[in-house]
Amino acid sequence: MSLFRKKDVEHMLAGAQSAGLKKALGALDLTFLGVGAIIGTGIFVLTGTGAVQAGPALMISFLVAAVACGFAALAYAEFASTIPVAGSIYTYSYATLGELAAWVIGWDLMLEYGLATSAVSVGWSGYLQSLLAGFGISLPVALTAAPGAVPGAATLFNLPAFLVMMAITTLLSIGVRESTRINNVMVAIKVTVVLLVIAVGVFHVTPANWHPFMPNGWNGVFGAAAVMFFAFIGFDSVSSAAEEVRDPKRDLPIGIIASLGVCAVLYVAVAAVVTGIVPSAQFASISHPVSYALQVAGQRWVAGFIDLGAVLGMLTVILVMGYGQTRVIFAMSRDGLLPAALSKVHPRFATPFLTTWIVGIFFGLIGALVPLNVLAELINIGTLAAFSMVSVAVLVLRRTHPALPRAFRCPGVPVVPVLAVAACLFLMINLQAITWVAFVVWLGLGLVIYFGYSRKRSKLA
Ligand code: ALA
Repeated sequence: MSLFRKKDVEHMLAGAQSAGLKKALGALDLTFLGVGAIIGTGIFVLTGTGAVQAGPALMISFLVAAVACGFAALAYAEFASTIPVAGSIYTYSYATLGELAAWVIGWDLMLEYGLATSAVSVGWSGYLQSLLAGFGISLPVALTAAPGAVPGAATLFNLPAFLVMMAITTLLSIGVRESTRINNVMVAIKVTVVLLVIAVGVFHVTPANWHPFMPNGWNGVFGAAAVMFFAFIGFDSVSSAAEEVRDPKRDLPIGIIASLGVCAVLYVAVAAVVTGIVPSAQFASISHPVSYALQVAGQRWVAGFIDLGAVLGMLTVILVMGYGQTRVIFAMSRDGLLPAALSKVHPRFATPFLTTWIVGIFFGLIGALVPLNVLAELINIGTLAAFSMVSVAVLVLRRTHPALPRAFRCPGVPVVPVLAVAACLFLMINLQAITWVAFVVWLGLGLVIYFGYSRKRSKLA
């Protein structure tokens, strides 16, 4: 039965008051945190892959992914506003599904947040190189990408990707206040750039490019939806900041839902514009598809500005994902499931300093050495699995703690959480078989660590 031992919800809420993290964030900060985490490599880079797969129907793929996220977001918001304790769905599941499920979810989140920082650093590197190319500067080929990332090129190590991770790790390790302020400026830049793509691009659309609308049929549309799901990952990281929010019951649901809605609208518009400018198949070998579309439209200055905005804006994605990652590890360590050293707070910076650096260096190396498409599928499968579990957990919590005050209640229970599970599983089965193999191996490794270490060291033991 120890596998199902649960944390006591009321006790956790009391503990949150005294955890010692600064309470500095409001609803607008959280929305910015969310948009900062969401808009990144997905829209700026994977849009190309998605357009090749789905054609102009990429617009539908985005909607499918957004709907799946929307259901999960509603479940998320209920949790986030009920148990505002650091650690995101890991913590929530600890109180509802029990320790083993919490471990599996925490282990999943490491795949999500950790590999997402790596993936976005790779996307960032692509746009930086496009920006530098505009000035006639190019890096030695060996240092431009991971081994095997570019067919026929002798690439070895993605140096810009690694360096950007080290820079962000430095920011994270010295404290959330500084990081949040930088995030807000970057989000403004990023949203401006996306709006610019839409506003300028719309005048260069050739409607003929939207035919055939669905060159690879529904298979292409759903396959692309499973990949483009990546573009929405991040809204959940808002809930990871729960312990640092001034009024979590009100602000967390607003932050999650507002950030997801804004991004869904922007993505569909960008997909419409870029597939309207460039015939979709042409995106096959392009690592900066959004600025490429504007180059094709003859808007070279705008394209350059997009490169610059993407380079600046993607920094916040790494920042917020890295933040979520360290806070999940922090929470798991505080519960005894991971070594205690990982939840040590730095006396001066009030951050989990050691954890931040271990994670930053590890995932920096992964970004430098593994191709983007491999990373994106892995991230999606881990995240979708975690989203399914949180949706189940909403149903469980309604039964086990019906009287618990909830600032936000998921509408349409049980239908909405059940639809969330169905949508997530549907996207998962549209991912490649090799991704499933890697996911099962990762889960197996997690279970070995749980039964070999965490179960005995758990504070609940
Ligand atoms: N949603 C984030 C991105 O697109 C992870 O980069």
